[in-house]
Amino acid sequence: MNLLIKDISQLVTCRNKGKFPKAGKKQSDIGLIKNGNIFIEKGKIAFAGSSSELKRFLSAGSAKNYDVIEAKGKVITPGFIDSHTHFVFAGSREDEYEMRQSGKTYQQIAKAGGGILSTVDAVRKTNKAGLNEISEKRLGKFIRYGTTTIEGKSGYGLDLGNEIKILEVMKDLNAENKYGMDIIPTFLGAHSVHPSKKKDEYIYEICHNMISIISKEELAVFIDVFVEENYFTKEDADKIFTFGKKYGLIPKLHTDQFNSIGGIETAVNHSAASVDHLEVLNDEDIELLAAHNKDKSKRNIIAAVLPGVSYFLDIPYAPARKLISKNIPVALATDFNPGSCMTENLQTIMSLASVHLKMNAAEILNAVTINAAFSLNIENKTGSIEPGKQADLLIFDMPSYKYLVYNFGVNNLESVIKKGKIVFQNQ
Ligand code: NIG
Ligand code: FE
Repeated sequence: MNLLIKDISQLVTCRNKGKFPKAGKKQSDIGLIKNGNIFIEKGKIAFAGSSSELKRFLSAGSAKNYDVIEAKGKVITPGFIDSHTHFVFAGSREDEYEMRQSGKTYQQIAKAGGGILSTVDAVRKTNKAGLNEISEKRLGKFIRYGTTTIEGKSGYGLDLGNEIKILEVMKDLNAENKYGMDIIPTFLGAHSVHPSKKKDEYIYEICHNMISIISKEELAVFIDVFVEENYFTKEDADKIFTFGKKYGLIPKLHTDQFNSIGGIETAVNHSAASVDHLEVLNDEDIELLAAHNKDKSKRNIIAAVLPGVSYFLDIPYAPARKLISKNIPVALATDFNPGSCMTENLQTIMSLASVHLKMNAAEILNAVTINAAFSLNIENKTGSIEPGKQADLLIFDMPSYKYLVYNFGVNNLESVIKKGKIVFQNQ
């Protein structure tokens, strides 16, 4: 059945006809239509526009057999895209969280055998069916706050079999999950090194064994590296990206979270799809990113900012205003993981972006829709409400889009539509 959504008080389209994500002043251009309307046909958007445009569309006569939703007093936005998560893992680390509250740092806990490695242990002990069950349950939490597309990383296996197990869980969930969510997988073998291995041996294994198998089995779209002191260097990332690209994997990078050790340079050299974290990003690296993004012959590198990590670890916030002022497109994501940001709620991240990054509601909305889509190379499929795209949209019961960050800590989301079907309704 087709669907007409009528008289939407505020329709936030985030439309973007161009080849480019929203940067600079355009970061706050959300393509707002007052009293807007949407027609959905076979799971896709056939029309989005004003009431007079709707009349013309309907009188052309091709729209048939449809249900109608009245959306007076409602705000509709594109479905949110969480472009950076680690949602497939087992166990939890609330004891570490409390240790941090009593003064230990994330790095001290990791050195003592906690951190990423404790989750690796839990993942290794859990079979694929178990991991699938926990992860699908988490998707149910993401969807209720508006995430309709999610990126997920491996990186809690740290050997071939366990990395593949995580990636296969994502492949299976992408083929079928209760919410019809789209899942984009990233191979993050270089998240840490297991103590049973030497770093150089492990990097060799990633480059000469894991990448080719993962690519052949179509288990990942992107390849990611954690560039950080005591983890991987920019040279390690360079090597891993060189091999990854040979096998068709697209680079992305965890960089500048605690220390700035040159990750941005490597990301720029490899034309990464995004650089993520950026809590301690320096001015020189901002200039590198700005220069890359100025060159219109190159695909933009999206700055994926993760304010939930700054909040949860009590570390600095990324310089989002500087990024926007330098015309670098900004995306926002949860970084959902058990160690540095334990929330599936992208609306909480949007609130943090408002208070701490000083982004306005419009900039924030583009950051979780069209710019996030660009960072995952899915901008032709989703991320905005435009004819031809998948009908992924959110109906909010609130007077204006600005209310989304203003009325914080509650969920005004009423219904989630994914590929034209209502997949979640708030009672
Ligand atoms: O994105 N920075 C590295 N990796 C994760 C944290 C992983 C963990 O602590 O389990 C992150 O913050
Ligand atoms: Fe992360």
